[in-house]
Amino acid sequence: MSTTTMTQSQTQAMPVIRLERVTRAYHTGGGGFAGGHTIVTSLNEVDLDIHAGEIFGLVGESGSGKTTAARLMVRLEHPNHGRVLYHGENVAKLRGKKLKRFRRRVQMIFQDPYQSLNPYQSVQHIVEEPLAIHKLGLPAQRQNKVIETLTQVGLTPSMTYLHRYPHQLSGGQRQRVAIARALVLSPDVLIADEPTSMLDASIAIQIYGILSEVQRRRQVTMLFITHSLAAAHFLCDRIAVIYRGHIVEIGPAKSVIADPRHPYTQALLDALPRFGHPWGERRFDTLREIPRSEPATGGCPFFSRCVPADLDLCRQRRPALKSRDGIHSSACFLVE
Ligand SMILES: Nc1ncnc2c1ncn2[C@@H]1O[C@H](COP(=O)(O)OP(=O)(O)OP(=O)(O)O)[C@@H](O)[C@H]1O
Ligand SMILES: [Mg+2]
Repeated sequence: MSTTTMTQSQTQAMPVIRLERVTRAYHTGGGGFAGGHTIVTSLNEVDLDIHAGEIFGLVGESGSGKTTAARLMVRLEHPNHGRVLYHGENVAKLRGKKLKRFRRRVQMIFQDPYQSLNPYQSVQHIVEEPLAIHKLGLPAQRQNKVIETLTQVGLTPSMTYLHRYPHQLSGGQRQRVAIARALVLSPDVLIADEPTSMLDASIAIQIYGILSEVQRRRQVTMLFITHSLAAAHFLCDRIAVIYRGHIVEIGPAKSVIADPRHPYTQALLDALPRFGHPWGERRFDTLREIPRSEPATGGCPFFSRCVPADLDLCRQRRPALKSRDGIHSSACFLVE
């Protein structure tokens, strides 16, 4: 959890990252003899603000659009509709010096440390390269910066890691190198895309500890992407729950966990293993296999999996995000 407590004035300040009605769709190769193609809508009119100094959690199951959101935020892709803003500026329109600065200040740690690190580069090369690309510091200064950053991510004594290659590291160590590579540029936004999905639980906790410490020391704004509400609760100030490209709930982490409002968030909470509790003690039980057809175009995206759904209303109409208290919102007619 970051040390920054969101005050009313911070919440109203310009967000560091803003998604404004962002839609991203992909054409995929068609199947069958007829050829053609289908369109996968990965993000659907998503609005999202990430504020300075917070750790923001984006939580959802596989394929819900989390990585797509991250790729749009770091400008690896552009939205089909809507805008991504960085400190109020449209990321798609950044050019020249501003674009360079953006590339330096917004960093991403990718899901898979096995693929994101070049196997032919030493740890020193991997972590130093961004400094060289951005022409920051002299070689001796760069090496000091590399050592300092490796120490910060817990790879100590750092000298013993400099000349190793990725295959000589454990999964957890690789992910630490990936974090160091992102941190060496002193970003003001750090996006961590499921940084622990390939790691076991005890190593994952260590990585959360590093991210939390980095946030506390550097006041970096962080987007933490995960499929686990438990991990988001542990680390984040606010959480957004995403389902098939739609934000279905958003609010302070504590409130989302203690008072989940959307049936999907309730289902995610139900899915967390709780030791010592028999299976029967489920509070919500919202995620059963339901033999129900997909909703009409424009219906609630969660309709076909939602036990308490209203068979007419929810099939036909899509609920907007609404809030009773101004800080915790959900997109569900049943909550209204
Ligand atoms: N380049 C692409 N071409 C076609 N479809 C894509 C592409 N990238 C993503 N998609 C589709 O968009 C949807 C969202 O994908 P995304 O990678 O954002 O999900 P995710 O939430 O990150 O999932 P995971 O937890 O498995 O990483 C998926 O249905 C995926 O198949
Ligand atoms: Mg992903």
